[in-house]
Amino acid sequence: MRVAVAGGTGQVGSRVVSRLQARGDEAVVLSRSSGVDLVTGEGLVGVLDGVQAVLDCTSTTSQVRRVCVEFFAAVARTLQLAAAEAGVHRLVTLSIVGIDAMPGVGHYAGKLAQKRETRAGAVPATILRATQFHTFPAQLAGTLGLGPVRLCLRQPVQPVDVETVVEHLLRLIDGQDEGRTVDLGGPQRLAMTTACRRTFRARGAHRLVLPLVLPGRSGRAARRGAALAGPDAILAGRSFEEWIEAGAPA
Ligand SMILES: NC(=O)c1ccc[n+]([C@@H]2O[C@H](COP(=O)([O-])OP(=O)(O)OC[C@H]3O[C@@H](n4cnc5c(N)ncnc54)[C@H](OP(=O)(O)O)[C@@H]3O)[C@@H](O)[C@H]2O)c1
Repeated sequence: MRVAVAGGTGQVGSRVVSRLQARGDEAVVLSRSSGVDLVTGEGLVGVLDGVQAVLDCTSTTSQVRRVCVEFFAAVARTLQLAAAEAGVHRLVTLSIVGIDAMPGVGHYAGKLAQKRETRAGAVPATILRATQFHTFPAQLAGTLGLGPVRLCLRQPVQPVDVETVVEHLLRLIDGQDEGRTVDLGGPQRLAMTTACRRTFRARGAHRLVLPLVLPGRSGRAARRGAALAGPDAILAGRSFEEWIEAGAPA
């Protein structure tokens, strides 16, 4: 099978590309560093020829609401139009659990725009909503703080192993649960600050982690558990504890 992986150089996308190649499928990477800009559509002509499935695991580093909304909406629109034109059978999009309850967070507003554009297109789309990855709490705290002090959101999380997310994406690429929205989480709930401190400790990084209270409706929703896996979610993969015991790999 020929599969296009949008964001195929990223944390998730590069793993999906390796797994596709290992099982004998052909992976076409769509990213700026491989010559395709999915916001403008530049470099996309002919690239989806013969592709059966497209996976969207692009992302932006911006946290600015307007930038995130424009980015995710534009990429989703570009992929839907190009996939329809090329006769692609299915689109799989990676999203996040709880975004509907936290639209005040810039990245989540962007993911909501991505969902709207993806669902509005002609190609049947399957959306995998994962909880935060094991790597996320420390990754986020790494961008908030000064010197050895790091800020971490005060909210519960239920992190999932990125390899488990990749396994589920591969199943959806193969056509399982076509057209549905599937939620996936890890088996263990804990405070994000605890996850953060444990990750820094496991990696031998000396950091003072202080809790940050996100203001507004989205912050309250997050503290009430909006980012946790719901009752219908699939819970799978190694726990946060097991990931820490493995040395908290990136
Ligand atoms: N982190 C979490 O805990 C978590 C949890 C659930 C879901 N998610 C979702 O998972 C997705 C993937 O996250 P990630 O951490 O793997 O992202 P990442 O490592 O930041 O990778 C982003 C990818 O997007 C590509 N990209 C950016 N701008 C582009 C453009 N204009 N045109 C084409 N490609 C572009 C990048 O390649 P170039 O720079 O070469 O363009 C890169 O391959 C995100 O949508 C995120 O919302 C994340």
